Amino acid sequence: MANQVAFTEKLTNFYRYPCICGFQDKVEKPKEFLGYLNTPSPKDRDTMIYIHIPFCRSMCIYCPFYKEHHKNIDYETKSRFVNALVKELEMYSKEPYFKDVPIVNVNMGGGTPMVLETELLIRILDAIYKNFNMEKCEVISIEGDPIALQDVNKLKALKEMGMTRTSFGIQTFNERLRKKLGVESSVLDIFKALNALEKAGVDEWGCDMLYNCPDQNVTEIRYNVDRICDLKPTVVDVYDLNISPNTKLQKLLDTDYFKSKPSNKNEIEMFAAIMETFGENGFDHIRSVNFEPKGYKHSKKGILYAFSADLLAIGPSARTFMYSGGMNYRNHCSLERYIGSLEDGIYPVEAGNIVSKEALEERDIILFPYYMKLRKDEINYNRFKEKIDDMIISGYIKDNGDSIELTDLGKLWAGNVQYYFHSDSEKEKMANSIFKCLSEKKNFFNQDNINC
Ligand SMILES: C[S@@+](CC[C@H](N)C(=O)[O-])C[C@H]1O[C@@H](n2cnc3c(N)ncnc32)[C@H](O)[C@@H]1O
Ligand code: SF4
Repeated sequence: MANQVAFTEKLTNFYRYPCICGFQDKVEKPKEFLGYLNTPSPKDRDTMIYIHIPFCRSMCIYCPFYKEHHKNIDYETKSRFVNALVKELEMYSKEPYFKDVPIVNVNMGGGTPMVLETELLIRILDAIYKNFNMEKCEVISIEGDPIALQDVNKLKALKEMGMTRTSFGIQTFNERLRKKLGVESSVLDIFKALNALEKAGVDEWGCDMLYNCPDQNVTEIRYNVDRICDLKPTVVDVYDLNISPNTKLQKLLDTDYFKSKPSNKNEIEMFAAIMETFGENGFDHIRSVNFEPKGYKHSKKGILYAFSADLLAIGPSARTFMYSGGMNYRNHCSLERYIGSLEDGIYPVEAGNIVSKEALEERDIILFPYYMKLRKDEINYNRFKEKIDDMIISGYIKDNGDSIELTDLGKLWAGNVQYYFHSDSEKEKMANSIFKCLSEKKNFFNQDNINC
C-alpha cells in the first residue's frame, strides 16, 4: 500500500547524481580510472562539452563554484591555463571513445569566461573545432557577467567564432543587496550589457535570478521577476540561495550584517510567487528552475538539455558524466594542480566513481523532477513503482498513463521529490561528505576552500 508523505522543509534541486566526494572518491591513478576511453563510444547519446573558466571579476560571497579573482592571475598564467585546456581537449579527442563522436553543444561556464581576453577565448574555441566533430553542434554558449558583456568587439569576435548565446547572473535588482552579497556590477551595468548584446547581434541570452536571499521579501521577488520579464530574456534560471556550512556567508548570517535571514517559510512563499509572476508575464515553467517566454523556439540541444546527455567537462573542477560505463568524475579544484597535471601529460582527474547500473537507473528518476515529465518506458518503472505511488497519492506526481508528471504542488517541492528517490547508500554517502567537510572546514560543494 502506498504511503502518504508531506514535505515540510524545502530542499534544493539535485543536478548531480551520484555525488562525487573528494574524501570518499579520491582518484589516485587517473589513467587506469579512465579505462573507458579505450573503447569506442556507443554513440546512442548526444555528447556535449563543458569548459570551466575559473576567473571572475566579483567574488560573490554566496558562490561555491571554483574560481580565482581575475586580477590576481597574470596574463602569462592565464595563457598557461589555456594551453592546459587545449592539451586536455587534445588528449580526450585522440582517445577511441571520442573518435568522430559528434558534439551537439558547447558551454563555457565558470566562473565568468567572458572576463578572459578575447584571443584566449578564441584559442579555446579554435581547439574544439580542430579536435572534435562539430558538424552537428547547435549551440555554443559562453557565460558572462553584466560588466564583461559590455565589450561589443569581444562579443562580435566570439559570434564570428560560432557563439550562439550567452547567459549571466542578474541575481537581484536591489542595489544595496548586490553590494552586500559582493556582486560587483550595478543594475545600470545590466542595461549596458543588454545594449551591447543588441549591438553585437547576440539575441539569444539567458539570465539567473536568486531568491530566498537575506534581506529579501516576497514583494521584492515579484518585482525582480517582473523587471526580468520586461528585459525579454530567452530563458531565466531561478535559484534558491544555497548556504554551505563553513562559508563566510553562513558566518555573516550569524551577525547583524543582514537585517533578515533566509527561511524555509520564505523559500516556499517566494517560489510560489515566482511561478505565479512568471505566469502573469506570459512565461512558461519549462523545467523545475527554468522559465521561458511562451512560444519561444530555443535550440533543442541547449544547455538545459545537459543532464541527460553525455557531458565531457574540461577545466579545473569540471564534472564529466558518461552514461556508457557510468563514468562520473571531476577535475582538480585548483589552477595550479590542474595546469601542473596537464603540463606533466596526466589527465587532471581528482575524484570520481564508476556508477553501477542500479545507480544509473536512480539517476534517471532523480533527474525527472528537474525535467518535470518522464515517459514510463524511459526508466525501470517497476523498480521505483512503490515510491512513485507514494508521490502520486501525496499529490506531488500525477500519472498520465504512459508518462508521469509533477503536479503544481510537486513543482514547488521538486528537490524533495528528487531526494525521495535517492538510495539509502547515496544518502549515507552525502551525509558522510557533509560531516567530513564540517570537520575539515571545507565548502561542501567541491570539498575545497572557496568562500570559507
Ligand atoms: C556559475 S555562476 C555564473 C554566472 C556569472 N558568473 C555571473 O555571476 O553573472 C551561475 C549562477 O549560479 C548561481 N549561484 C551561485 N552561487 C549560488 C548559491 N550559493 N546558491 C544558489 N545559486 C547560486 C548564480 O545565480 C549564478 O549566476
Ligand atoms: S556568481 Fe558568477 S561572478 Fe559571482 S563568484 Fe560566482 S561565478 Fe563569479
